[in-house]
Amino acid sequence: MRILVTGGAGFIGSHFARMMCERADVERVVVFDALTYAGNLNSILDLEDSPKFKFCLGRIQDEVAVHEVLGSEKVSHMVNFAAETHNDRSLLDVGSFIQTNVFGVHILFEATRKFGLQRMLHVSTDEVYGSTLSGTFTEQSPLEPNTPYSASKAGGDLQCRGHFVAFETPVVVTRGGNNYGPYQYPEKLIPFFATRLLEGKKVPVYGDGSQVREWIHVLDHCEGIFVALQKGTDGEIYNIGDHNERQNMHVVKVLLEETQRDNSFVKHIEDPRKGAHDARYSMTTDKIEALGWHPSRNFETELLSTVNWYRNNPEWWKKIQAKPDYSDFVQRFYGASLGADL
Ligand SMILES: NC(=O)c1ccc[n+]([C@@H]2O[C@H](COP(=O)([O-])OP(=O)(O)OC[C@H]3O[C@@H](n4cnc5c(N)ncnc54)[C@H](O)[C@@H]3O)[C@@H](O)[C@H]2O)c1
Repeated sequence: MRILVTGGAGFIGSHFARMMCERADVERVVVFDALTYAGNLNSILDLEDSPKFKFCLGRIQDEVAVHEVLGSEKVSHMVNFAAETHNDRSLLDVGSFIQTNVFGVHILFEATRKFGLQRMLHVSTDEVYGSTLSGTFTEQSPLEPNTPYSASKAGGDLQCRGHFVAFETPVVVTRGGNNYGPYQYPEKLIPFFATRLLEGKKVPVYGDGSQVREWIHVLDHCEGIFVALQKGTDGEIYNIGDHNERQNMHVVKVLLEETQRDNSFVKHIEDPRKGAHDARYSMTTDKIEALGWHPSRNFETELLSTVNWYRNNPEWWKKIQAKPDYSDFVQRFYGASLGADL
């Protein structure tokens, strides 16, 4: 396999690229990434030592750049992680989400067809299903996204279907649960809270924190993506989850314990979403498990390891914190509610 990993300088894509570099059956690993605020070459520094690895700077909306890399690198498989990914940012700026997650994905599908790739796997999210209080989403569940982010991701997923049915483009979609692990940009719940608590700052919890998220370790997710890439069926969708349903407040309590902080470090704030905040995500995973994939990492153990990773790698996240992208967002999004606790 000669794999193009779009968005491979981001959180999940960097783990996937590393996993691919370690596989004997993968000949070439090319990361194609625009290095937006969320892209980070420091997350893939170690890959520079691998003779099979290459980094290319480019945006997935840029057809010329995409065609250039597919042709020159003789790519056989593409895995698309490139996306605008933060729900909260999508409340501030919808346009960039549509540009990358809808239009950019269109460019990648067209290129998959034009260059005759063996397979393109599009990485999506459980959030396209919306929220369910008591049920569990299957791959057949209707798409009811509730934020501009999840709506833009659903736009990408539906193009997969359109391409497969109309052109038999060899595409597969995976929908993952909430990921956690090292190298996650510290605006997302676990690293945002972990880094703030390590620094002795308060953490802002939306409402009472009773929202339920289904967590999966990033490496379990990447292994599932590779199984779907190798063994999935064209045109099919595969949920990838680990059934670790936890209320946000439960996660916060573990983080408080692990960083030796008490409840005074929690500030409950008003939810910025005008409508309801998604209450609960939950997915069945029989389909991907039938291909031989099973998650193997324990949530509680790996959550502690993740906090330790942030504790032991302050240079990685402090460099991000020092950039205006990060501080401007935190100020804009939490400034009013956190006030002096910002
Ligand atoms: N993080 C999660 O919990 C989660 C769960 C399920 C699915 N996903 C999906 O997995 C994928 C990766 O998520 P992540 O958390 O690693 O995201 P991330 O924000 O950490 O990384 C995204 C990467 O994409 C790059 N990128 C953004 N726009 C680009 C463009 N136009 N062209 C090229 N590169 C671009 C960024 O520079 C960055 O390196 C996304 O598609 C996301 O929707 C994420």
